[in-house]
Amino acid sequence: MCNVHHQLELQKRRTFAIISHPDAGKTTVTEKMLLLGKAIRTTGTIKGRGNGKYAKSDWMNIEKRRGISVTTSVMQFTYKNILINLLDTPGHEDFSEDTYRILTAVDCCLLVIDAAKGIEERTKKLMNVTRLHNTPIITFINKLDRDSLEPIEILDEIEKYLKLNCTPITWPISCGKSFKGIYHLHDKMIHLYKKNIIKKSNFFHSKSFCCFLNEPSLKEYIGRDLNIQFHEELKLITHVYPEFIKKKFLKGYMTPVFFGSALGNFGINHILESLIKWAPSPVYRQTNIRKVKPEEKKLTGFIFKIQANMDLKHRDRIAFMRIVSGKYKKGIKLRHVRTKKNITISDAFSFLAGDRFIVEKAYPGDVIGIHNHGTIKIGDTFTEGEDIQFVGIPSFAPEVFRGIVLKNPLQQKKLKKSLFQLSEEGAIQVLRPMINNSIILGAIGVLQFDVVIERLNIEYKIDATYRKVDIFIARWIRSENKKSIFEFVNKNKSYIALDSFNQLIYLAPNKANLNITKNLYNDIFFDKTREQ
Ligand code: G4P
Repeated sequence: MCNVHHQLELQKRRTFAIISHPDAGKTTVTEKMLLLGKAIRTTGTIKGRGNGKYAKSDWMNIEKRRGISVTTSVMQFTYKNILINLLDTPGHEDFSEDTYRILTAVDCCLLVIDAAKGIEERTKKLMNVTRLHNTPIITFINKLDRDSLEPIEILDEIEKYLKLNCTPITWPISCGKSFKGIYHLHDKMIHLYKKNIIKKSNFFHSKSFCCFLNEPSLKEYIGRDLNIQFHEELKLITHVYPEFIKKKFLKGYMTPVFFGSALGNFGINHILESLIKWAPSPVYRQTNIRKVKPEEKKLTGFIFKIQANMDLKHRDRIAFMRIVSGKYKKGIKLRHVRTKKNITISDAFSFLAGDRFIVEKAYPGDVIGIHNHGTIKIGDTFTEGEDIQFVGIPSFAPEVFRGIVLKNPLQQKKLKKSLFQLSEEGAIQVLRPMINNSIILGAIGVLQFDVVIERLNIEYKIDATYRKVDIFIARWIRSENKKSIFEFVNKNKSYIALDSFNQLIYLAPNKANLNITKNLYNDIFFDKTREQ
């Protein structure tokens, strides 16, 4: 297998993404991590919702107008000699199918929860995706400097809605105005929230703002009542919650839970410590034939994202490849398995907050960008010759729908061609109903519709608008029995369409319709995801 050097490169890598509902603090956590990793020097470097500071890819008017970034980036930084790849997941209006698929390219996820809000809708959706691979989850409960729900209530929600066993690693001492800090159950230290530190106090170690649990002046500092309440809570949680078991964490059953305030850069170091201590080094990936281990000598990788127009000057398409095994070196010859073509890659690059750099070497867990002239598709596999295909990089059933209407009907053929090209980037799906000639677009986030209209206009000179359609939910349909599917399609034509890959998809006007249909046809599967 691999040599010692390769093994060391693997051991020092972690690849993860952040899962959160908009506004829970993903950007702030990312920024503080990059600060701790010395990848940036000041805050405000990373895109903030609406502040337009992270505007490297802002070539599109739509991005400029709304001050958001439609593109995704990959950030690489080092923390205590561990190289961390953080894959950014579009969150606000720019939420899309990409957000889901990025989660299939990481080895671990950080779940960020707003302590005042608990588990929100987007979090549930994203967590369902991590379940496809049983990705290990680290949880950070943020904004303790504001009034919050009871910590136990939040942990209950995590267990109930996300089906994860919680094991608190830190525990907060109150919240909001009276937030004093956290107790670290593993290192057995109280970490005091700096904002509230009274400089003259003599009970904490001057630089780290830490003290032991039995520090006599702690009671005085946090107040008698709060102290009693905190000690009672500690007793309770050590009885109620299980010890951290790494094996369970790695299997995605158990999540270590941390508390803090991203804005106050409080508790972020604890997450990073857990990431380097517990999160897995790059893990194996399954192909149609065998498992590929990161230790293998020859390079393999898969494409999980296609990004158009990352750079206004180039107007190019970039394919994002997650390296699974081997080593990328400039000038490497790779086999594009689907097209059976061999290509030489000498200008792959890596990213930091929107900037790109030519890479000389890259290892499993790293993400490299390769230029794509329309031949590379999402889900494609690259190898040094072997004919294998990575699995588990699915399409996700669209959640929002629009009919597309041309202002000039003579552009119909051009429209179809352009839409199919855009759909290859993976952010929208083109659906053709069986009963008429219309075109319906499906997406995961509504912003994609605006992006399509704008791109049709700018790149293809097509003027189009949208109409509402009566579709609420979509599911790909399949059956083991060809006759059943044939009968089903015949009887339900008005609800069925073909996607860009000519796969049958059922478009239900409401949830009740879908449930009734499912009950009527027991031998038909209604799938939320479809392998590329
Ligand atoms: P997101 O990427 O998940 O959408 O969240 P983001 O980090 O942009 O945070 C959303 C809002 O919550 C921001 O405020 C941010 O400053 C605030 N925030 C994040 N972490 C904390 C925290 O630990 N404590 C408190 N009190 N606030 C926090 P904003 O006013 O919407 O934006 P901005 O003007 O501060 O950028």
